[in-house]
Amino acid sequence: MEVRVRPYSSGDRAGVRAIVLATADRGRPGGWLFPHPEVTADLLTRYYTDFEPDSSWVAESEGTLVGYTSGSVHPERHRRIMRRQVIPRAVLWSLLRGALWHRRSWQWAGAVALTALRYGRPPAIPEELYPAHIHVNVLPSARGHSVGKALADRFLTHAAEAGCAGVYAKVHGDNRPARRFFSQLGFSPLLRYAWVLPESETYRPGFTVVYARPL
Ligand SMILES: CC(C)(COP(=O)(O)OP(=O)(O)OC[C@H]1O[C@@H](n2cnc3c(N)ncnc32)[C@H](O)[C@@H]1OP(=O)(O)O)[C@@H](O)C(=O)NCCC(=O)NCCS
Repeated sequence: MEVRVRPYSSGDRAGVRAIVLATADRGRPGGWLFPHPEVTADLLTRYYTDFEPDSSWVAESEGTLVGYTSGSVHPERHRRIMRRQVIPRAVLWSLLRGALWHRRSWQWAGAVALTALRYGRPPAIPEELYPAHIHVNVLPSARGHSVGKALADRFLTHAAEAGCAGVYAKVHGDNRPARRFFSQLGFSPLLRYAWVLPESETYRPGFTVVYARPL
């Protein structure tokens, strides 16, 4: 399969949002994760596409996007914009569209409360060692052709050139392909923490592994 990796441009925004909705739940469709697919796409991609587009690349095959990598080399800016702009707008958008009457919203509230009660706060990532973070998402039809690796290599070079000492990625504990993928790229498990995630009718215990790699 012929795939071209190139820098992200604003015309790719809809394609990137479509890919995240098709892959966000451990590689499977994840539009259901939040009360509305728009909110899921906003929370997972808006910072990267709208506030730090220079840290994203896309993979294209026959004129169609098949994967992307995004991330941040500015941890404080990422945190500030997520807290002050991306998350508040997603919450407001949801409320205006009746999220209080949506079962999913209450399931999320329950999951956040249960996670805090059972496990407390997640451990802090040592940002002085690993200031950058990365996401890689490839459509199922394009997996296994080194597309993810080609995308990640672009971001890793970019983060090293930006002067970052290291980079990390958060992976669901039961996402074996992604865990193997980051191990192959030279990342090692740094931290793990448990959480409770709302599933369709119930709650599911799970854990995240933070993979990290010096640059
Ligand atoms: C993880 C993901 C990005 C891998 O993309 P990909 O293009 O298929 O990966 P590559 O072909 O570049 O694989 C690179 C290496 O990763 C490992 N790997 C990738 N997929 C694997 C799988 N399903 N099982 C085992 N190892 C795998 C292999 O070692 C592979 O090297 P090899 O082919 O020489 O053996 C892709 O499966 C995906 O988008 N998953 C959903 C989103 C996600 O979970 N992202 C990671 C968290 S941000």
